[in-house]
Amino acid sequence: MEPGLSLPDVQTAEQLLMEAAEMNPGAWVEHSRHVALAARNIAEVHPNLDPTRAYTLGLLHDIGRRTGPNRDRHLLDGHDFLTELGYTDAARIAVTHSFVIPDMDTLQGDWDGTPQEWQRLREVVARAQQTDEDRLIQLCDMLGLADGFCTIEERLVDIALRYTFNARTPDKWRAKLQLKADFDRECGVNIYLLLPGLVERLLA
Ligand SMILES: [Fe+2]
Repeated sequence: MEPGLSLPDVQTAEQLLMEAAEMNPGAWVEHSRHVALAARNIAEVHPNLDPTRAYTLGLLHDIGRRTGPNRDRHLLDGHDFLTELGYTDAARIAVTHSFVIPDMDTLQGDWDGTPQEWQRLREVVARAQQTDEDRLIQLCDMLGLADGFCTIEERLVDIALRYTFNARTPDKWRAKLQLKADFDRECGVNIYLLLPGLVERLLA
């Protein structure tokens, strides 16, 4: 695979993130950096993942926030922005990071785009062939807040308080907790131990 075609190098990803942070400053920027660090650290011990690709995909997963403040429309905006640049893997993950279950009705809260955009997002979700990289960013999206690393449970509450929840939320929570258990097994370690400062904070 030609790596330059499916995602940018780290320096370019950093520039895209900084540009987006100027357009729409917010907690999402530091969240993205923590997701990237978690992804790199987990990829370093995972048998099938590349740490540099993981870091880059983490930096870019929420790049659709550049058009915000926005809600779930950031998924489609990130996808369109990265597709335009030719970064097809990063573009797919800008959407799939929110679909640990690939159903539109697992989105929490009101849709902030047009009905046509909702249909288009649905088509992107249906078409996406998810890989271990998609799974990794789904996991790591749950491990980073703006001010540091967190447990899955802490992040589930953080999201529910901002987006509310619906009838599918328990299924989504089960799937996310299962994802953590799967990565623990694949990595041969409790992945919380790979996130600097997390265990110390929990025990303090
Ligand atoms: Fe995120």
